[in-house]
Amino acid sequence: MEDLIKKAAEDIIKAQRVSALTGAGMSAESGIPTFRDPGGFWERYNPEEYAHINTFFSHPEKPWQMVKDFDIKVKAKPNPGHLALAELESLGFLREIITQNVDNLHQQAGNSQVIEFHGNLRRAVCLTCGKYYELAKISLEILPPRCECNGILKPDAVFFGEPIPQEAYRRSYEAARSCKLMLVIGTSAVVYPAASIPQIAKQAGAVVVEVNPQPTPLTGVISDYIIIGKAGVVLPEIVKAVKNLLC
Ligand code: OAD
Repeated sequence: MEDLIKKAAEDIIKAQRVSALTGAGMSAESGIPTFRDPGGFWERYNPEEYAHINTFFSHPEKPWQMVKDFDIKVKAKPNPGHLALAELESLGFLREIITQNVDNLHQQAGNSQVIEFHGNLRRAVCLTCGKYYELAKISLEILPPRCECNGILKPDAVFFGEPIPQEAYRRSYEAARSCKLMLVIGTSAVVYPAASIPQIAKQAGAVVVEVNPQPTPLTGVISDYIIIGKAGVVLPEIVKAVKNLLC
């Protein structure tokens, strides 16, 4: 692993223009379960029943129940992996993070360019008048929560069956086409269109480096190499190696 960490650091310095695509594994060490690992969200909640936009329209209280369980409202904090990516941005290498996560932890860690591919659960939006609310400021005692206009509030996250927000989509593909190295961290890379982003980067000539405790469908096909390990361990090591090479 040490050799690959040094290689990743050298590749980052050579590339100069780095993008990252992150998934739920990025926040696992912050205590937020992933979706598809054992004990993940989709073991407890059938996504068709709890995370499809059609369910939201017929039974909005169900997705809201899952949001309550997500419990990111107050507890989760950025882990050393998030902080390492913030440092990689401040060192001038990481231009943007495209995240599938809705937990706001990259933003909390200090990254300024975060593309929210699947929205952000810190916000809710009224389906009637379009007013936005901070989730922390609305009561979840009675579900679904409602707007002051009495419209139903929807978590500002992308549900299955919903399109990706247009601007996030445009910026992500632009980043994929223009980066020289893409870090793909903590994603099973099975949900599209997010999973196509490393493929676009690869086709445009970028080096693709995965950080994940286990291989993914990208491994050996799209990614140039994978560093097997947890984001909270591997990413600080990479950033340390980058700094060592710079002095
Ligand atoms: P998944 O649950 O599908 O995959 C999590 C990935 O993180 C797996 O590849 C794990 O091996 C890896 N992992 C676990 N712990 C890790 C750690 N400590 N460090 C690094 N990696 C770790 O989550 P996503 O790929 O993010 O979409 O799922 C993609 C989308 O599917 C989500 O955004 C969500 C879900 O349905 C929507 O809800 C629209």
